[in-house]
Amino acid sequence: MPHIATVLVIDDEEIIREALEALLVAEGYRVATAATAQEGLDALGDRDFDAVLLDLMLPDRNGIEVLGDIRRLDEELPVIMVTAFGTIDGAVAATKQGAFHYFTKPFKNDEVLAVLRNAVERRRLVRENRELRDRLRAGSHRFDGIIGGSGKMKTVFDFITRAAPSRATILIQGESGTGKELVARAFHRHSARSDKAFITVNSGNLPPDLLESNLFGHVKGAFTGAVYPKKGLFELADKGTIFFDEIGNIPLDTQAKLLRVIQEREFMRLGGVDTIKVDVRIIAATNVSLREMMEQDRFREDLFYRLNVIMIELPSLRERMEDIPWLAQHFLEKYGEESRKPGLMLTPAAMDRLMAYHWPGNVRELENVIERAVVLCADRREIGPDLIPDHVSANPVTAAPDVVIPAEGIHFREVIIGHERRYIEAALEAAAGIQKKAAELLHIKATTLNEMIKRYDIRPKRRRVAGEPDTAEVEIAGGE
Ligand SMILES: Nc1ncnc2c1ncn2[C@@H]1O[C@H](COP(=O)(O)OP(=O)(O)OP(=O)(O)O)[C@@H](O)[C@H]1O
Ligand SMILES: [Mg+2]
Repeated sequence: MPHIATVLVIDDEEIIREALEALLVAEGYRVATAATAQEGLDALGDRDFDAVLLDLMLPDRNGIEVLGDIRRLDEELPVIMVTAFGTIDGAVAATKQGAFHYFTKPFKNDEVLAVLRNAVERRRLVRENRELRDRLRAGSHRFDGIIGGSGKMKTVFDFITRAAPSRATILIQGESGTGKELVARAFHRHSARSDKAFITVNSGNLPPDLLESNLFGHVKGAFTGAVYPKKGLFELADKGTIFFDEIGNIPLDTQAKLLRVIQEREFMRLGGVDTIKVDVRIIAATNVSLREMMEQDRFREDLFYRLNVIMIELPSLRERMEDIPWLAQHFLEKYGEESRKPGLMLTPAAMDRLMAYHWPGNVRELENVIERAVVLCADRREIGPDLIPDHVSANPVTAAPDVVIPAEGIHFREVIIGHERRYIEAALEAAAGIQKKAAELLHIKATTLNEMIKRYDIRPKRRRVAGEPDTAEVEIAGGE
């Protein structure tokens, strides 16, 4: 049953009270009336209202004072001032003190109803948002800073609680922006190692030599420029946790060395002869399928099975749409606090847009959308659909094209890679070759894009035209 709004009319003129009551009841509102300020305040103390129509000139009190009293009783209750012609100054002053709106007697019915509709809508929004906020604070929709009330996320939380205390290696699999790093940190915090180091290894983008000297350290003179001995990340993580972000990016040679550390819990510094023993918990994350990489000989099978002891798969945001309101509320508070804008709310229309979108960039993308809206909302408290970027909507363009499989079949990986290439090339073109911008357009991380560009050997269009005849041949067979 839809909520029936209840309105309190405070006015000393009986004829006005009756006229307003008749008008509002005919529109389906519940109405209570009061002839004096005191009567009105008593009524407000007794029961819940959704809006108040308050006469500015009451026999016992000045309407502005009453407004102050009402706001002390219920800060969010919308109060609409009703004023006789000629006392508009007072009404303007009242809106400065937080009255929702005002209108002058004699009033137009349409105007009264329109203002009231907005007021009640605002009331409902404030209520819903407060409920969301209170429930979020109460903690049943979060776990150690990770927001989620869906069954899928509850399973994740439960899994963390159970698996965290052991030293077993954990593999976290999930699309970009699903919270892999947050989850890795939660594993650490819920283990007996929580007071020791949590070291993150950003596996991509480093040449193998540098990655290895980072991981294992080196002795003095191990290579030109190794003037001092250096501890590696494994040593720094001793007794704590080491987190390999995007482990799929680790080169095959380094994978072999990593395997040894996982098996033996010991290693040597680069150029060194002494074995160093460490006690570390290893957590790895990936947004690509390591199994597929393994089948393509890009990831070592033995390492895969070593890592895959305990695997946790983080659901994409579109698989748990019911978490969107909680996450949106969480980010509204986070960025609202940062920019000193308390009490921000999403309008239902804005929320509809968020709920209709498929979120390829998952929680990170949602976080960015909310941060942007908070920045752009100036001093508005209500964030409407105009502050949500256009591309965030149910988008038929991203629906999969009709697929026809020919009799001879297709080479699945190659077709997919072909598609990926074309989108990457199109994004690079749209971004004038700037990878960071292209990554934003695709809602993936710049490092992920860079990795794909390297993997698929995608070159800027200019260079192809300029010569290097062989580069034009780099098209992947079957991709077109
Ligand atoms: N469930 C969640 N609750 C609150 N914040 C979240 C949640 N999931 C992700 N985030 C936030 O979204 C952003 C991305 O999360 P994180 O870096 O952990 O994702 P990721 O899976 O490691 O992504 P990538 O593969 O792109 O590295 C971070 O700012 C993180 O705080
Ligand atoms: Mg990450």
